[in-house]
Amino acid sequence: MAEQNYDVLVIGAGPGGYVAAIRAAQLGFKTGCVDKHDKFGGTCLRVGCIPSKALLDASEKFAQARDHYASLGIKLGSVTLDLPTMLARKDKIVEQLTAGITGLLKKNKIDKLVGTARLLGAGKVELTTPAGAQMLSAKHIIIATGSTPVELPTLKFDGQTIINSNHALSLQSVPQRLVVIGAGAIGLEMASVWARLGSEVTVLEMLPTLCGGLADAEAARALEKALTKQGLNFYLEAKFTHTTPAADGVNVHFEWEGKTQSVPANVVLVAVGRKPYSEGLGARELGVQYDPKGRILVDSHFQTTVPGMYAIGDVIPGPMLAHKAEEDGIACVELLAGQAGHVDYAAVPAVVYTAPELAWVGLTQEQCTAAGRNVKIGKFAFRANGRALCMDETDGFVKIIADAQTDRILGGHIIGPHASSLLAEIAAVMAFGGSSEDLARTCHAHPTLPEAVKEAAMAVDGRAIHS
Ligand code: FAD
Ligand code: NAI
Repeated sequence: MAEQNYDVLVIGAGPGGYVAAIRAAQLGFKTGCVDKHDKFGGTCLRVGCIPSKALLDASEKFAQARDHYASLGIKLGSVTLDLPTMLARKDKIVEQLTAGITGLLKKNKIDKLVGTARLLGAGKVELTTPAGAQMLSAKHIIIATGSTPVELPTLKFDGQTIINSNHALSLQSVPQRLVVIGAGAIGLEMASVWARLGSEVTVLEMLPTLCGGLADAEAARALEKALTKQGLNFYLEAKFTHTTPAADGVNVHFEWEGKTQSVPANVVLVAVGRKPYSEGLGARELGVQYDPKGRILVDSHFQTTVPGMYAIGDVIPGPMLAHKAEEDGIACVELLAGQAGHVDYAAVPAVVYTAPELAWVGLTQEQCTAAGRNVKIGKFAFRANGRALCMDETDGFVKIIADAQTDRILGGHIIGPHASSLLAEIAAVMAFGGSSEDLARTCHAHPTLPEAVKEAAMAVDGRAIHS
C-alpha cells in the first residue's frame, strides 16, 4: 500500500489525541489520527470518564429513589435494581459518543486510522492492522498514547476477583463485599457506585486523607464523613500486605494502627493510580527521553527530545485528566501553527464525582501554608443556601482562598451538590487573574447554588450575608 503523508499524525485517539487532530485540521493541517481501538475516544470515552459517570448518575438516582424520595413526599413502593439495563445504558452512551468522534473526524476531513502505531524514525510510522502493515509519514507526530492502571506486585489483575477500573465498570453482578485499595478518584467513584447498588464496601488508603493528598484537607475530611455516613468503611494510613484465598473470594490483609487486620472480599478493586503508556511505540529507542515515572519529557512547546515528535496528555507530566489532555492537544497544535497556544496548569480543575461531589482548582490551604503565603479564606456552607435546602442536598461548603494583599484568588474548593459545575466560575475568574471581590460583586441569580460561591467570596472579607 502507498505511504500516506500527513502534516500532523496523532497517535492515540483519547481526549488529548482526537482533540489535537480536530484542532490541527481546523488550522489547515492535513491530519491523520491513529488508535488501536476502532472506537475512538480513548480511556476517557471507552473505560473512563464517560462510563463511570453513566454509572455514577444512574446509581445515584437509584439510591435517591430507594433512600430519599419518600422524605420528599414521593412514595415509590419497592425500588429494585435492574443491573443489566443500567450497564446496557452505559454501553449505549459509550457507543453514541465514540461514534460521535468518528463523525467529527470525518467532518473535519481527518483520516481515521485503526491499528497499532510504531515509530520508525523522524517522521516515519508503521501502522499494523489485521490487514497488514502500512507506512505513514508526517512532518509532525504527536504522541497521545495515554495511561493504564497500576498493578500492585502481589495483586495481579485477573478480571474476576482482583480487578482494575476497566473491570469495575462492567461487573455483571453486585459483589456482596468489595474491597477498594486506594481512595483516589477511581477508588471513591467506583466505591460509591457499587455501595449504592448494594455492596458492602471497605476502602484501604495508605495516606491520612482521601484523594491522594491532592484535595484541600478540610474538604477531603468532609467527603470522608459524608461517604462514611453512606456506609463506606475507610481505613486510612492502612498498609496493604497480601491476600489469602477464601471460599468466595479472598481475605485482604493489612496493617492499621499498629495491628494486623483483615477483611473478606468477593472482589478487590485496585485503584492505586495510573501509569503513562507507550509500550511498543519505539519512542525510547529513537531517543525520546522519559522521566523516572515513565512520563515522556517535553519542552514548553510539547516537543520531545526528538525534533518533530511531540507528546501530550496522560503520557507527559501533569494531572492525568481528560480536560488537561485536551488543553495540551489544542496548545500543542496551535504552537505548531505559529500561534500562542498556552495551558494554565495552575488553574486545571479537578473533580471527584461522588455525592456530594468534591471539586477544586488552584492551591489548597495546606499548600498556601507550606509556601508561607499570607492568605484570606472565605467559607460558606450549603446548609445556608436556600436552593440546596430545596434540593435536600445541604452537605458541604464552598471555600475560597485569596491572597491577603492583592485579593487574587489562589484556590477554590467545593464539596457539595453540583460542585463540578459550580467550580467553573471560580476557575474562570482565576484564569483572568481575578479577585474574590470580582466574584463577590457579580450578581448571581436567586435562588441558586452559585449564590454559595458568591457568599464564600464575600466571606473572604467577612461580609457574607447568610452566615
Ligand atoms: P487516553 O485517553 O488514554 O488515550 C490514549 C489512546 O492511545 C488509547 O485509545 C489507546 O488505545 C491509544 N494507543 C496507545 N498506544 C497506541 C499505539 N501504539 N498505537 C495506536 N494507538 C495507541 N478524567 C477526567 O478529567 N474526568 C473524569 O471524570 C475521569 N474519569 C476517569 C474514570 C476512570 C475509570 C479512568 C480510568 C480515568 C478517568 N479520567 C478522568 C482520566 C482520563 O480518562 C484520562 O486523563 C484521559 O483519557 C487521558 O487522555 P489521553 O488522550 O492522554 O489518553
Ligand atoms: P490516584 O492517584 O488519584 O489515587 C490513588 C490512591 O491510591 C491515592 O490516594 C494513593 O495514596 C493510594 N495508594 C497508592 N498505593 C496504595 C497502596 N499500596 N495501598 C493503599 N493506597 C494506595 O489514582 P486513581 O484513583 O487510580 O486514578 C488514576 C488517575 O485517573 C488519576 O490521575 C485521576 O486523576 C484520574 N481519574 C480522574 C477522575 C476524575 O477526574 N473524576 C476519575 C477517575 C480517575
